[in-house]
Parts: sequence; C-alpha cells; structure tokens
Amino acid sequence: MAQSDDRTPGPAKHPADSFTRRHFLELIGAGAIGIAAVGSGVLSTEYLSPNVVKEPPTRFKAGMPESYPPGSVTLDKEQKVFIVRAKEGYFYALSATCTHLGCIANWKAEEGIVACPCHGSKFDREGNVIAGPAPRPLPRYAMSLDDHGQIVIDKALVVGEEATLKV
Ligand code: FES
Repeated sequence: MAQSDDRTPGPAKHPADSFTRRHFLELIGAGAIGIAAVGSGVLSTEYLSPNVVKEPPTRFKAGMPESYPPGSVTLDKEQKVFIVRAKEGYFYALSATCTHLGCIANWKAEEGIVACPCHGSKFDREGNVIAGPAPRPLPRYAMSLDDHGQIVIDKALVVGEEATLKV
C-alpha cells in the first residue's frame, strides 16, 4: 500500500500569499518611523534657522533733485513719505503717516495742506498740526545726496524742523 508523501510539493505559492500580517505591520511601522523622521527634521531645521522679520529698508533713493519743482509736495506712496521742495529750492521729507492712528495722509494742493482722510487731521506743509485729533506734527526724516547726486531719505532718522537739504 502506498503511503502519501506530505513533502510532495503542491502547487507553487503565489508571492502575495507570503505577504503576512507580520510583514504588513512591519511595513506600517517603517512608514510611521520614516514620516516621524522627516517631520522632526523639518521642525529641527525651522528651529535652527534664524527667526528674522523681513522689513523693508529704511533708506531709499528718491531720484534727482531736478525732478521736483520748487514749491512742490510729492507723495511717495510706496515709502509713505512726502518729499517737499520749498519755493526757495531746499528739500525736506515728511512722514505721510498720520500721527493720530496711522492713516496715510494726502497732499491737498488747492488748500496747501496735508489732510488725513480718516478723522480729519490737517497739517501745514511743514508737517505742523493745524487741526486735530493728530497729537503731534508729522516726523521729518533725514535727507542727503548720494555720490551720484540722488536724494536719499532715511526713515530711521527723525530730524528737527530746521533740518533741510540744500542743493
Ligand atoms: S488717523 Fe489721521 S486723523 Fe485719525
């Protein structure tokens, strides 16, 4: 009588049959470790990089003096600065930011004043308050000429009312 041989090879196993629950869990574990490693790497990089607030530079060029006619008041909207050229030819730079709550004021040529659209403050062409509620005059910024004769304004340097740029 022939005995059955248990070692007789049966049909070949498909590779998917060997993907056990254990393999699946190992794969999930490796994936989780990989994600955690990438996440901690990103956080470490952010922690080590300097936490710098990028602010626009305070010094800027305002062009050649000849581009401002005597008796003119020109608003540089980007810099929020009035470039004033007096009838006598000298220059000064005024902040266009209202000293009340920080709205940007406008030059009213027909009235010869700087007016704030928010709450009605008014300033004369030297930046002095002529109508509130603004509590202080408009700050005056340092002005100079660079090596090429261009006007340079430094908003970090507030100067007195007597400071002008003569060209
Ligand atoms: S912000 Fe200019 S008057 Fe209030």
